[in-house]
Amino acid sequence: MPKIDEKTRKKIQELREKINYHNYLYYVLDSPEVSDAEYDRLFDELVELEKKYPELVTPDSPTQRVGAPPLIEFKTVKHSLPMLSLNKATTEEELSDFHRRVLELSGLPESKIEYTAEPKFDGLAVELVYEDGVFTQGSTRGDGYVGEDVTLNLKTVRTIPMKLLTKKASLPKLLEVRGEVIMTKSELEKLNKEREKNGEPLFANPRNAAAGSVRQLNSKITASRHLTSFVYGTGQVQGRKFSTQFETIQYLKDLGFHLSQDMKLCKSLNEVKDYYQKILAKRDSLDYELDGIVIKVNDFKLQGKLGELSRSPRWAVAWKFPPQQETTKIKDIMVNVGRTGALTPVAILESVRVGGVEISRATLHNEDEINKKDIRIGDTVLVQRAGDVIPEVVMVIKNKRTGKERKFVFPDKCPVCGSKVERPPDEAVHRCTGIACPAQLKERISHFASKGGMDMEGLGYKFIEQMVDLGIVKDPADLYYLTEKNLLDKMERMGPKLAQNLINAINKSKNADLPHLIFALGIRNVGEHMASVLAREFESLDNLAKQSVEDLTSVYEIGPVVGESIYNFFHDEKNQKVLEKLKKAGVKFPEMSEFGSMGKVKTTVTPLTDKTFVLTGGLDSFTRDEAKRTIEEMGGRVSSSVSKKTDFVIVGKDPGSKLSDAQKLGVKTIDETGFKKMIGR
Ligand code: IVH
Repeated sequence: MPKIDEKTRKKIQELREKINYHNYLYYVLDSPEVSDAEYDRLFDELVELEKKYPELVTPDSPTQRVGAPPLIEFKTVKHSLPMLSLNKATTEEELSDFHRRVLELSGLPESKIEYTAEPKFDGLAVELVYEDGVFTQGSTRGDGYVGEDVTLNLKTVRTIPMKLLTKKASLPKLLEVRGEVIMTKSELEKLNKEREKNGEPLFANPRNAAAGSVRQLNSKITASRHLTSFVYGTGQVQGRKFSTQFETIQYLKDLGFHLSQDMKLCKSLNEVKDYYQKILAKRDSLDYELDGIVIKVNDFKLQGKLGELSRSPRWAVAWKFPPQQETTKIKDIMVNVGRTGALTPVAILESVRVGGVEISRATLHNEDEINKKDIRIGDTVLVQRAGDVIPEVVMVIKNKRTGKERKFVFPDKCPVCGSKVERPPDEAVHRCTGIACPAQLKERISHFASKGGMDMEGLGYKFIEQMVDLGIVKDPADLYYLTEKNLLDKMERMGPKLAQNLINAINKSKNADLPHLIFALGIRNVGEHMASVLAREFESLDNLAKQSVEDLTSVYEIGPVVGESIYNFFHDEKNQKVLEKLKKAGVKFPEMSEFGSMGKVKTTVTPLTDKTFVLTGGLDSFTRDEAKRTIEEMGGRVSSSVSKKTDFVIVGKDPGSKLSDAQKLGVKTIDETGFKKMIGR
């Protein structure tokens, strides 16, 4: 074993102090002074030294935060002072009752009573024991008298100091600190996503997740959960006296503990009430869950006078926020059709109050979500609502099942218009394919009339809404059957001049070119670029409508998803009727030959016309986007992968695998100079 000299000992000590300090700056104060890389270097150096001199490893070394070998079971820990619970108030009256009792029992005038007001963190209560400034034991609250020894697990929580800071405060011999270990909302979201992927049951809320993570026999699992903590008070203390809660809080801050910035000293009950409103308003924007505020008599002497009941003190109360989760039953599942045609399953609930609001519906998002959570009609479920967010079903309470629950079958026809419902293979949502579906009508008509579509100048969303609500426009073709008289008689804020302008714009749009007409139809996955491709390839709308999925997908740039949605669109009876109506109204269904003359697409033939290019590696004179745009402007196409249909692969600096793909397939390659020549630069 290598001999340990004084210098090494000192070095190790120094590294630990530095790491602890940077850890405090990063996790507690959220204001690091060194880069992550610098921190890692210090950490690695310490790990190396400790590997070399294992006898110098101490339990409070920052290297001990990463988790230890699994335990067989937890030891029990008797709390030297019981960890009491809190009486609850759910209304302002109940808070006033608490205040009145404090006044009566203390015999003091109102002006002499001070309270601290603190957030009530929703996690797992723990006790942390420090002997001469070193973290020696951490335990759960358990039944308040006896908890479990979770020291190794709590060492993985970065906001819990392994060693106390002594720069600003002197150390007591023994210090028991109490607080709450929590999981942030964002961390829970990440964890649940991961668990979903692995087919593991999800945690219903951050509290369960924190409790489940702290009570792990394998501290490496706890370490992977990235828990955090807030402390709010002390248990037994030897070698230091405090006279108020507020002084205690300040002291704990100085020792390096993580405390809420929102702890406040209140001089009156009104200040407490203001504080409650302020924290309630902030609640949803915080990344951690709060379930209320805690109000404590500030003066410890007075606390002693007020005393304790068997399980809770008379000097404190928890004023709870309205709960954001409740259990209720799913009476039925319906499907809602949004403006873009997306079908959203909605649970119809036995109504229940959540977050202070009565709710009777909750979104189920989509079919996959229903299957994943195994949600059935008749199930008892946990529902959640936060702020303005739409209520959702968190999980099914499976042990409440009676066997009478029914599985939900997703409809294959739109519940509003009866058109076919499709679910694109790589999407989670189902969509209605009906062009005249009333649920989607306003959005579809607005798309139809938009600049990229038929370009009906002056016909804004407000007018379209009115027309649909009045029932004078039931599909996009109806626009062409409107008259000035119609508009003047029925619409609000419509004058003769405006009506005339609108009708003129509508009539003018009958001459739109083919790409605009195709885009206006609002076929799913067909944007402006795809509309141009379709116009160029199929030359007329009638011809496009005749194509099979295979015909469509044989065209470069049209994949199976686009192919399918084009096919479905033209094979929907309702859509066919609307197309007929458009034709009858005098909308020109232009041929591609007319298209060039409209000046939308360059008819000039260039060396790039109809050629397909793939780009690989970096170019000196163009960004990727510039090169792509140049190719397209000159009539070429750009694809992201090499196939037999590729005409040229443009090879820049540090090319990727596309170069070897080209060589394998015998596709022509050109360098930047060759490309520049081709485009005449
Ligand atoms: S003081 C006797 N302060 O609430 C006073 N508790 O019912 C004991 N809690 O699980 C607790 N935030 O961990 C106090 N700011 C806060 C708190 C808080 C959360 C939890 C506590 C325990 C429960 C007490």
